[in-house]
Amino acid sequence: MADTKKAWWQTGIIYQVYPRSFQDSNGDGVGDLKGILERLDHLQWLGVDAIWLSPVFPSPMADFGYDISDYTGIHPLFGRPEDLDALLQAVHERGMKLLLDLVPNHTSDQHAWFLESRSSRDSPKRNWYIWQNAPADGSLPNNWLSVFGGSAWEWDGPSQQYYYHSFLKEQPDLNWRNPAVQEAMFNVMRYWLQKGVDGFRVDVLWFIFKDEQLRNNPPNPDYAQHMPAFDQLLPVYSTDQPEVQEITRKMRGVLEEFDGDRVLVAEVYLPIKQLVTYYGIDNKGAHLPFNFLLLSLPWDALQIATTIDQYEGALPADGWPNWVLSNHDRPRIASRVGAEQARIAAMLLLTLRGTPTIYYGDEIGMRDVAIPFDEIKDPQGLNMPDKNLSRDPARTPMQWDGSRNASFTDGSPWLRLDKNFARVNVRAQKENNSSMLSLYRRLISLRRQEPALSEGTYTSVYADNQLLSFIRQKEGSPSFLVVLNLTHRPCYFRPAGFPFGGTVEISASGEWEGSTVSNVIALEGDEGLLIRLDAHQPFLL
Ligand code: NOJ
Repeated sequence: MADTKKAWWQTGIIYQVYPRSFQDSNGDGVGDLKGILERLDHLQWLGVDAIWLSPVFPSPMADFGYDISDYTGIHPLFGRPEDLDALLQAVHERGMKLLLDLVPNHTSDQHAWFLESRSSRDSPKRNWYIWQNAPADGSLPNNWLSVFGGSAWEWDGPSQQYYYHSFLKEQPDLNWRNPAVQEAMFNVMRYWLQKGVDGFRVDVLWFIFKDEQLRNNPPNPDYAQHMPAFDQLLPVYSTDQPEVQEITRKMRGVLEEFDGDRVLVAEVYLPIKQLVTYYGIDNKGAHLPFNFLLLSLPWDALQIATTIDQYEGALPADGWPNWVLSNHDRPRIASRVGAEQARIAAMLLLTLRGTPTIYYGDEIGMRDVAIPFDEIKDPQGLNMPDKNLSRDPARTPMQWDGSRNASFTDGSPWLRLDKNFARVNVRAQKENNSSMLSLYRRLISLRRQEPALSEGTYTSVYADNQLLSFIRQKEGSPSFLVVLNLTHRPCYFRPAGFPFGGTVEISASGEWEGSTVSNVIALEGDEGLLIRLDAHQPFLL
């Protein structure tokens, strides 16, 4: 493969900010754009390259901003349009990039497009959404389910038709078969690109097209009672339709109307084979279809190692990998695998080949917070109260220091903070060399310094039911061996036919740093080593 110069979104690191919860600047208890601006120093100090903001646009907040009523405005809760301009400028002055969330699948039911569409069957925008007559037998148009529970069809009394919503009924799906809808959304992209944003994270891209005949989805044979109701059916007709590929290519085309390296990141929860199709033919689709394998797989070394190879093997030529550990929809990594293993997870995320995305707060080991039942805000939690599906626990305010409300707000926070914030916070961890934050920062800094880590090849070395290991190398630069124990128990690393020697650059516990290692390593539980290999070893490039 030709050694072409890599783009920033390949060598860089993306950091997801959930704006409601990052920093409040005006005491209303909700984070805002000025707050993010005030905290840019932290992000620069941490060493990340790009910030992705979850939606900050006008919205009735039925789904906390993923129900947009104006794609080119800013919700007053988050500030004024000028605050976004100021943030963008400050981000750029620091040599960083800013990505916005693009939500093309659905609007708010309060968006002018929907209000118009709903106003009458003859509305010129009727066909901007998905409307269906009631079948004669009184049933629903088909059996499709909403991700947030119940049927995906909502009856509109005044106009006597159903409209389709993949998520809440307050989030009607746009009709992407209508070229006017396509053009309107491309113009939204152009609006922000013109302002200088560096790209988008595209919400539920695999949902935007639906089977033209609206055929019923088949039952899911693996459905179990504890699963979300949506999983009762396999969404084979309501998601991942072939037509999405052309739209992805067109979205990419819109980015390419602008200079600079703008990036298209796509939210796609699909098995590897389907996921990689979102790179598009000749890589003309999304630059980075999000790879959520690490947040879906059991924390099992062998399974993870195998899946990394499957993913690496399935990537199209020149398709660039990426990795995600947590986001605003899923449990935080520290709650999934525990505090000790979250350190190993950080090492994995930041040493694998491909662009890492860090979820705000993971860098200090924030965990999911227990939210009392009567404080639940998330519609997914409220709609399916018996299934523990609320996403609030992973969306709690950032823990900046040990003072009131962790300095997130002077007011009353929209969601309660973790009780542990007096101990687990940015300020305390900055002063502590063995903190999670220090580990993150050192991993990031080494990754930035070492071409093998930011752009080198990936070769798996050995994995078993406790550990996994791999080498990162790039010709002309030092190579690194990564050995991670994904359990609490000690284990040996002594792969057959693989004599090696090197120096430990970073260890999860800190205890090994500076030690020389060779051939056989007895590794403590919860330990991980990032080893700078001595030059001239037989297996190196
Ligand atoms: C995915 C987003 O990440 C999630 O937060 C939202 O609820 C759904 N899409 C609907 O927009």
